[in-house]
Amino acid sequence: MERAKIIADPEFKIGEIDPRLFGSFIEHLGRAVYGGIYEPGHSTADEMGFRRDVIELVREMNVSLVRYPGGNFVSGYNWLDGVGPKDRRPKRLDLAWMTLEPNQIGPDEFCEWARRAGVEVNMAVNLGTKGIEEARNLVEYCNHPGGSFYSDMRIANGFVEPHRVKTWCLGNEMDGPWQMGHKTADEYGRLAVETSRLMKWVDPTIELVVCGSSNASMPTFGAWEATVLDYTYEQIDYLSLHQYYKKRNNDLETFLGQTIEMDAFIHSVISICDYVGAKKKLKRKMNLSFDEWNVWYQTETDEKIMKREPWQVGPPLFEAPYSHEDAVVVGLMLITLLRHADRIKIACMAQLINTIAPISTVAGGGAWRQTIFYPFMHAAAFGKGTVLDLQVKSPMYSNREFDAVPFLDAVAVQNEAGRELTIFAVNRNLTEPLPLEGDLRGIEGCRVLEHIVLESPDWNARNTLEQPNKVVPHQGGNASFENGALSAALPPLSWNVIRLVKA
Ligand code: AHR
Repeated sequence: MERAKIIADPEFKIGEIDPRLFGSFIEHLGRAVYGGIYEPGHSTADEMGFRRDVIELVREMNVSLVRYPGGNFVSGYNWLDGVGPKDRRPKRLDLAWMTLEPNQIGPDEFCEWARRAGVEVNMAVNLGTKGIEEARNLVEYCNHPGGSFYSDMRIANGFVEPHRVKTWCLGNEMDGPWQMGHKTADEYGRLAVETSRLMKWVDPTIELVVCGSSNASMPTFGAWEATVLDYTYEQIDYLSLHQYYKKRNNDLETFLGQTIEMDAFIHSVISICDYVGAKKKLKRKMNLSFDEWNVWYQTETDEKIMKREPWQVGPPLFEAPYSHEDAVVVGLMLITLLRHADRIKIACMAQLINTIAPISTVAGGGAWRQTIFYPFMHAAAFGKGTVLDLQVKSPMYSNREFDAVPFLDAVAVQNEAGRELTIFAVNRNLTEPLPLEGDLRGIEGCRVLEHIVLESPDWNARNTLEQPNKVVPHQGGNASFENGALSAALPPLSWNVIRLVKA
């Protein structure tokens, strides 16, 4: 196997990593909330009904921020249903997922859960069936200290301290015809800009995310971003991107190549932002929030629940387990996000518990880590500091979908103190180890602290409650470092974390 080569030099940087790059997402969908974070009566539940075992796993995964309460759900949500005495909260039909919403968890409880889990909240407002009034009232309810109608309502509901939610989403996927209150780009752009003005008048310290396209293949992709930014650029702080992948037709090589499309998607969105910024003669660059990304499989069970067994509370939707292959693709997605850390400041793995999730639970039983838990945990733990402008030369493969897919994908991060360099790397080769040679200039005097590897002899292996450790990382990578030269063999189809520290 031809070797791959990387060159890193701390003098050449891409940008600083915002800790919010390692965010996640909890929607009122499936068993994410009911039966996920919230299960009163569970042996680990605290006095508010939150599962402590789940909170521990969220902390272990190093999640920094959680987007809430949707997703498609938010486009039909009335936040006032979810505050105040629980026995007086209405049960509502949620038309996004055809489930029954009991409103036992709302903004107050979720912000309290976030505090207990050590994560920041990224709150979405309903710009589908509701609008400016409800959005500005929710900012007042969450963030105003007191002495006004909605802040006093929060205090009366038992939450004296404001929730201090910093990051807010102006609706969700408003270009999608599946969205309640779906809008044209002009309709949405006008609504988003007016809503953002009032929200920031209530609390000028908040940051706002405006909806980009639901994914790169939307027919309106490109034009949507340009039009929405024409209305909102001066008022908002981030433009959103969403993308999910899955293995199709049992074609693993194509599945692994899809992050090339993700990279191109990000480049296109940056170009559109810069085009609108240039047209408006603005110096401020628009940053991005990749606030939904993951591997996602939908099954017949999901279809059956929504079409033939609707109106259940917390049904098991989108709980297909993840394989080793999926974990490698998640690793590739993380590398892609890190490579754009100069513009992507927020990203949310969608989602967090049970639904499209790295953490799974059993009602009344245990909780376990899916395979995709691990690359996220590593990236969030060691992806702190500055992303270097890594030069990568790799042997390639091609197939019907892609002309040239490098076997190696990698990114290098130097930590804040400059004492540690971490290389995240994936070998896409299915059968052979990839010899890697690294010219790491300017970081002489380092040693390899550890070379963590996630690999599996069975690419389809999955973790379950009974066998939670079928796919787990190990420390057995063979990276070595001498006189500024790194050398390693990356096992076939593997995720690697090579950590170097100043000796
Ligand atoms: O994460 C699941 C769903 O995917 C979200 O509700 C929606 O925004 C997206 O289409």
